[in-house]
Amino acid sequence: MQKILKYYWIFARGSMVIILVMEVEMSKEITRERAIELLNEYIKNPSMIKHCLASEAVLGAIAEHLGEDRGKWAMAGLLHDLDVEITNADLHVHGRETVHLLKNEGVDGEIIEAISLHNELSSGKKRSTKFHHALAAGETITGLIIAATLVYPDKKINSVKPKSIIKRMKEKAFAASVNRDIIRECEIIGIPLAGFAEISLKAMQGISDKLEL
Ligand SMILES: [Fe+2]
Repeated sequence: MQKILKYYWIFARGSMVIILVMEVEMSKEITRERAIELLNEYIKNPSMIKHCLASEAVLGAIAEHLGEDRGKWAMAGLLHDLDVEITNADLHVHGRETVHLLKNEGVDGEIIEAISLHNELSSGKKRSTKFHHALAAGETITGLIIAATLVYPDKKINSVKPKSIIKRMKEKAFAASVNRDIIRECEIIGIPLAGFAEISLKAMQGISDKLEL
């Protein structure tokens, strides 16, 4: 949705009335095409691009499940790691460059805020809305799902069962870098872990070709 602020000035000069209108563009909906262009410009690692696509699919599915704005949540998933390479994945700053880049693109403030807060360390603030928690939990579970897929005999995501994700969730040594506490933020937004794993897995299975899994 493009938001336009209009300012009107009305002048009376003699018998003439002059009306000036100034339009200020406040924010606009970034197209998916432009988002993909940005990803390809700033992210060179194909695995990271796949992580972004997986996060897009998962966030879209969570939004739909909760009756939220699917397009907005999916876009946050797609763009949340835009600066990961230009910040060398340094968690003290990761997210800050994305905020600058997306402000310059005129991206919706709620998307920018959710992206900033997917890394609380660099944002210096705590997640507080459904959107914030969904992005953090959703992008994080993609890592666990990919790791679980890669230990299946055929390494195919369509072979993976939701119960496998739950089993791996409990094995702390498995994909140890995946933060289970962040995944469990799904419960803050009213989705039990089992349901969250099922929704996320199904969303990623739907783009198995793009994920090459
Ligand atoms: Fe991410």
